[in-house]
Parts: sequence; C-alpha cells; structure tokens
Amino acid sequence: MNKFKVVTLNEFIIKMQLDFPYAKGELSNLLSHIGIAAKIVHREVNKAGLVDILGSQGSVNVQGEEVKKLDVFADEHFISALKASGECCGIASEENDNIVSFDSELARDGKYIVTMDPLDGSSNIDVNVSIGTIFSIYRRQTPQGHKAEEIDFLQEGTRQVAAGYIIYGSSTMMVYSTGKGVNGFTLDPSIGEFCLSHPEIKTPSSGKIYSINEGNYIKFPVGVKKYIKYCQEPDIQTSRPYSSRYIGSLVADFHRNLLQGGIFLYPSTLSYPTGKLRLLYECNPMAFIAEQAGGMAVDGLGNRILDIKPDSLHQRVPFFVGSRKMVEIVDRFMRENPEN
Ligand code: AHG
Ligand code: MN
Ligand code: MN
Repeated sequence: MNKFKVVTLNEFIIKMQLDFPYAKGELSNLLSHIGIAAKIVHREVNKAGLVDILGSQGSVNVQGEEVKKLDVFADEHFISALKASGECCGIASEENDNIVSFDSELARDGKYIVTMDPLDGSSNIDVNVSIGTIFSIYRRQTPQGHKAEEIDFLQEGTRQVAAGYIIYGSSTMMVYSTGKGVNGFTLDPSIGEFCLSHPEIKTPSSGKIYSINEGNYIKFPVGVKKYIKYCQEPDIQTSRPYSSRYIGSLVADFHRNLLQGGIFLYPSTLSYPTGKLRLLYECNPMAFIAEQAGGMAVDGLGNRILDIKPDSLHQRVPFFVGSRKMVEIVDRFMRENPEN
C-alpha cells in the first residue's frame, strides 16, 4: 500500500457504506453534505478576525451585504446543506425555538432528522479561540412522505444513527461516528478536503485533566466540590494533582480530553439547577462519541446520558463526560453525596 495515500472524508464515507450491504447511501449523502457546510463555516470563521475591515454583525459590508452573526450564518448554512441533501426531513437547532420541518417533496421523503448546535463556544469567536459545530442524526419516527414532527426529535441518545462535531481550531477537524468507532478528519485548506488523520480514535481510560468552570465552585453540588478537591490532592499512583483546563467551548474541551484523556464536567449550579448544556444537541452527540471511543457520559444523578428520554427540544442536563475511570469516580462521589 502506498503510505502517502490520502483518504478523504467522502472516500471514507463510501468505503464504510460498503460494510452495510443494504445501505442505499442516504446516510453517506447526509454526512457528505454536513462536510460541505463545515467547509463553508470554516471559511467564514477564518474571516472573523477581519471584522473591523469587513464589518461587524448587523453592519453592511463593502459589497453592500448585511454581515451576519456567525451563529446565524452557521445555522443557515447547515440547514441549507441538510435540506439540499434530500435525506433529512427536518432539524432542531439551538438557534431555533421550534423544529424546522422541510417542506419540499424531496425532503418530506427524507428518512433522517438532525439536531445541531451550529456554533458552539460563541463567546470565543471574537477572541480567536477554538469553536465548533455539534450534530446528531436519528431515523425519523413519523412515516416518510410527511412533514417532520417534534416526536421525531424526542428520542433517546441510544437511538442516534450517527453523531459528530467539527472543531474550528488551529486546524479544522471533523470527528464523527456511525456507531462503529470514531474517526477524525483534518481539513487540508490547500485542497479543500477533509483527510483521515485520526483513524479509530480510542480515548485513554484515565487522564490527568479536569475541565470545569471553577468560578461556579460555591454553587456546585457537594459531590462535585469533593471531586474537585480529589482532583487537586497529590497521589502518585493516579498522577494527581490533575491539571485544570477549561476553554469554555465544549467542542474544544471535549476534543482535547478525547485525545489526551480527561474529564469534562458541567454540573447543576444554583443558576442552572438542571445544568447548562442541552441534551439533544450538545450532550447526546458528545456522549455517543465518548462511548464509541471507550469513554463514558453520565448526569451524576444515576443516569447514563444516552438513556435519558427527552421531553423537550432544548432540555438541559448536568453533564459529566470523558475517560471511563474518571467518570466512574465522579459518579461515585455524586452517589455518596446526594445533598446539594
Ligand atoms: P454555545 O456557545 O453554543 O451557547 O455553548 C456554550 C457552552 C459550551 O460550549 C461551554 O462548554 C459552556 O457553554 C461554557 O459555559 P460557562 O461560560 O458557563 O462555563
Ligand atoms: Mn453550545
Ligand atoms: Mn451554540
């Protein structure tokens, strides 16, 4: 084999499809369209620093076009790519209060629905820090040929057909899983292709990083406070004290921990009694990827994230995700300290 052979995202998607003898290529087509939208958003993210030259959000740029907020830009481009794929009958997104059901005949025949956080880490856009997009794909519950309904979106995370994220960082990467492991692709901007760079990602069973917004310390449940102290206590055998790393973009914090080993925590706080992160388009896709890479994700209240039955589109849950052994320990701290 030629060791310099580059495998592009599209080649990889098609190769994987051959593993499913009855697959008709619908999911492959959908994933390819997500890849296209990711490239468009990548291009726009890379222009974000030129805001003073090209115009800030809401202003009119030199071409006479209104400059859109990047979250809205990303939302619109992912929606139009999903619509154009013809495989998706509707989406739920952080940017829209209600589901968006696609109206065309082609889209009504689509088998899949998508949930997404089109721009994650938006507070980091203006300061040139990594941001991302998160998505998850489910089979619809209502029959093909009809408009998508909310019930299509309120499915447990175990029913995800595929999930992934794009990180717009020092390089842009797409990481996704169709339930057969996790693979990562780095965008080579010179050829405009995502290339397989991180095949079969496995996360270490333990790590040396804990990621949490410690500014909220006094508002955390007792179990989390005790776990933070545990992370800080020296212990040679478990390589403690751990390092604290928190970017404030879930995608970036998660991605680092996935590759290096670590734990990310967004527990309930007094301001966010059910946590801050959203089950359908932040926690479930990340939990799916984590588990597929050998990690774990729980809510610290006795539930595996992927087993939670959603009851609303923008539902929040406390979120503990990362290396398996670390998540097991925080889960134990939470069980032993049920008081708030
Ligand atoms: P978004 O930009 O999509 O609203 O998400 C922000 C989220 C997530 O990316 C991050 O982990 C978390 O909010 C940070 O919250 P705090 O600032 O409260 O730590
Ligand atoms: Mn987000
Ligand atoms: Mn967002």
